Amino acid sequence: MRIRPVATGVTAALMGLSTLVLSPSAAHAATDDHRTVVFAHRGASAYAPENTLASIDAAHRLGIDWVENDVQRTKDGELVILHDNSLARTTDVEQVFPDRAPWNVADFTLNEIEKLDAGSWFGQKFEGERVPTLEAYMDEVEHNGQKLLMELKSPELYPGIELQTLVELRRDGWLSKSHVKRRLVIQSFNADAIKTVHFFRSDVKTGFLGNPTVADLPKYAEYCDQINPNHNAVTRDYVSAVHGLKGPHGRALEVHTWTVDDGARAVKVAEMGVDGIITNKPDVVRDALAGASG
Ligand code: G3P
Ligand code: CA
Repeated sequence: MRIRPVATGVTAALMGLSTLVLSPSAAHAATDDHRTVVFAHRGASAYAPENTLASIDAAHRLGIDWVENDVQRTKDGELVILHDNSLARTTDVEQVFPDRAPWNVADFTLNEIEKLDAGSWFGQKFEGERVPTLEAYMDEVEHNGQKLLMELKSPELYPGIELQTLVELRRDGWLSKSHVKRRLVIQSFNADAIKTVHFFRSDVKTGFLGNPTVADLPKYAEYCDQINPNHNAVTRDYVSAVHGLKGPHGRALEVHTWTVDDGARAVKVAEMGVDGIITNKPDVVRDALAGASG
């Protein structure tokens, strides 16, 4: 197997990132089993508080392999899992720290965030659920034998978060050959962040969140394996245009669309040819797709 150096500058070495990676041509698609893959959006977030360990456990109990999350950074530089830039909607931060509006993740230390209840807003039975660190989250995904579609959320707010995330994934064992081959995709709405991930670890599969014009798709194909649009932007022609291009690993670009919770709509986008559907109700989507194909 051919290996080649990546990130020839000193940065990667200083950060402890491996300077030897699999060649892009030796990497494999993680989600290419010819069925429509179902992703639990922020975990099975219709049934448990989003982006908590309970949400990925709920997906696991439903038999869902792929979970999606959102990674951000605390004031003291720790990586945590949260969707909004503010802690207000999904924790009790307004009660615990009433004078700290607008309660942005970036303004709180990990120690402060660990005091917050990230479950009660969703339901009393989830009281005491915490905002997970990336490390704890990865441990749970590993423990459950699941796979991760990781979103770098608002990376423009967190300079260097791409490399920091890769370093932590490596430390947690998630950049091993088998994880990269089958169990990890990193996506973002921010194309520069994805380019940076691809620069440092060209073996890691990546996705761009959005719907670039067909004319622009070849540029994205240089560093993205997936184009992941809102389901309202999906058409059969657009999916065909994306599939007509090869990504950095020599395979057809994939389309994974979000956020579809309605079974009939899931069947419609599946018929348009999408490779995956990202949903808060993975059981509903899975069952609808099974019903349509059976
Ligand atoms: O994975 C797609 C989806 O998560 C993008 O939207 O706002 O839920 O992060 P958002
Ligand atoms: Ca997300």
